[in-house]
Amino acid sequence: MSADTLEREQEPAGEHLTMGIDPWEKNWMRVSILLLVVFAVAITVAGFAAGFQLPGEESEVDPRTLTTEGPWADPGLRDLGNGHYEAYVLAQAWSFAPRELVVPVGAEADIYVASSDLQHGFKITDTNINMQIVPGQVSKLTFTFDEIGEYPYICTEYCGQGHAAMFGTVQVVSEADFAAASSDSSTDSTDSTADSTPATTEAQG
Ligand code: CUA
Repeated sequence: MSADTLEREQEPAGEHLTMGIDPWEKNWMRVSILLLVVFAVAITVAGFAAGFQLPGEESEVDPRTLTTEGPWADPGLRDLGNGHYEAYVLAQAWSFAPRELVVPVGAEADIYVASSDLQHGFKITDTNINMQIVPGQVSKLTFTFDEIGEYPYICTEYCGQGHAAMFGTVQVVSEADFAAASSDSSTDSTDSTADSTPATTEAQG
């Protein structure tokens, strides 16, 4: 402080000696305060208008019994009628069950993913489905599959040695193909995806 004062005394008397705040510093203070206001508004809107809430008890699940009871003991697609489906996907080191989900084009699907062991990720490429899968919690998002095609899904959370092997595919097919596939047994569909997906897993690293 004293060295600074001495130095300043050498300067011609003037505004340098006053305790004024630099205009740029004032502007940065304004920006900081504005950001805090923006964050507070964003949290309020997300929480109360957009419905982003911390998961409650209804979305809890017991990882120890996940594979033996409840919907994840028999993972896969359920037809709820009127083009509405729900899919239960089980994530565990190191695979997804099922490996393939076949849905008809136009299907609106609620996708519920739960883990029986570690933390995993679940992302369906070319959709807005991208979730953390935390043991004990159910992750749910809804997507309408409007275009026929293959939508690979992958684990996006590094979960160990077999992380890159955690993948599968949503096959969006025509109504006719879906009807045909549904009448077949679903046993032969698991093999067909195995050779079409390595490119995706490599990209994940
Ligand atoms: Cu599961 Cu990475």
